[in-house]
Amino acid sequence: MIYFDNAATGGKKPLTVINAVDKSLREYCANAGRSGHSRSEKAALAIYSAREKVADFFHADGAEQVIFTPNCTAAINYVIKGVLNKGDHIIVSSLEHNAVMRPLIKSGIEYDIAEVATDGGKTLENFKSLIRKNTKMIFCTAASNVTGKILPIYEIGQLASKNGILFGVDAAQAAGIIDINMKKMNIDYLCVAPHKALYAPMGIGLLIARSPIEKTVIEGGTGNNSENLVQGNLMPEDFESGTLNISGILGLSAGIDFVKKYGIKNIYNHEIKLMKRLYNELLKIDNIILYNDFKEGDYVPLISFNLKGLESGEVAAELNKYGIAVRAGLHCAPLAHKSIGTLKIGTVRVSPSVFNRTQEVDYLIRAIKNIKKM
Ligand code: ALA
Repeated sequence: MIYFDNAATGGKKPLTVINAVDKSLREYCANAGRSGHSRSEKAALAIYSAREKVADFFHADGAEQVIFTPNCTAAINYVIKGVLNKGDHIIVSSLEHNAVMRPLIKSGIEYDIAEVATDGGKTLENFKSLIRKNTKMIFCTAASNVTGKILPIYEIGQLASKNGILFGVDAAQAAGIIDINMKKMNIDYLCVAPHKALYAPMGIGLLIARSPIEKTVIEGGTGNNSENLVQGNLMPEDFESGTLNISGILGLSAGIDFVKKYGIKNIYNHEIKLMKRLYNELLKIDNIILYNDFKEGDYVPLISFNLKGLESGEVAAELNKYGIAVRAGLHCAPLAHKSIGTLKIGTVRVSPSVFNRTQEVDYLIRAIKNIKKM
């Protein structure tokens, strides 16, 4: 299969990641931080060193700020439900995923949506104009999973910091593709989906918290303060109740090594080159609908398109017959679709990884041209 659905999950995991998962199941099956035996201690040490690696990779202040979660959605829920209270106000962007909007709406917290413009300065103005006295947090995606648009995270972080507002970022589509420096970007809470561009297995997520989280969302055993029937909010353990996914954590650790070995800039350049090739060829097709200008540096490497007269799902199903995997529909981000006018029809989305090659893009282009002729 030619896999171009890496924004949903990385379709090919590096051998080093597969080996790390294999090793975890052979040598690390123990409940870290619970039992006193040597395998449990070995597991706890491996987890600690993975925390340090994550903290270093995203420029957090220390390993204790790294919380392992089941996925990025859980991480976002922990931020929205753990930090905000009734009476607080939050500003989110017009490109947010349901992983942000659904917990936010369920929480009943007041929110406003800042329109993401083509121009970063205008986007910043839009965020600024919505700040109120009770604005406690700005939360936004680093890059849209529908359009690929990169938000001006550094500038939004400065705006938040100047106004004493907490700043949370959904880096699901950005981590591993664009450099994220929590300190420089003034990010208080970073939510990550490591199974995408960090090449980790599914079932492991990250919440890196440089500011406190008042309330836990999940309570249970943590391996510490066990005499206390009331859950605390000590970082990171109190936010990791239950047995940790050591296979996911060790796979994630190997995934970060993989990304570091290639270099984020090289990965971005490789993938953007592929997507530019696709974009330029798509522009030549009659009846193609594209949704942005795909200016380098403004987008992560993914392209949404439609073919006039065909449902996005039909196009994806046809491509599947060619052995090509893409995603179609709403990508769980209706706000983003509303902003580009595709709420009813969705889009066909192509998203590469470092493993894709030029010939695969050319094959995809030929397949799209054939479908168009149907
Ligand atoms: N949110 C993921 C995507 O964009 C699953 O496909």
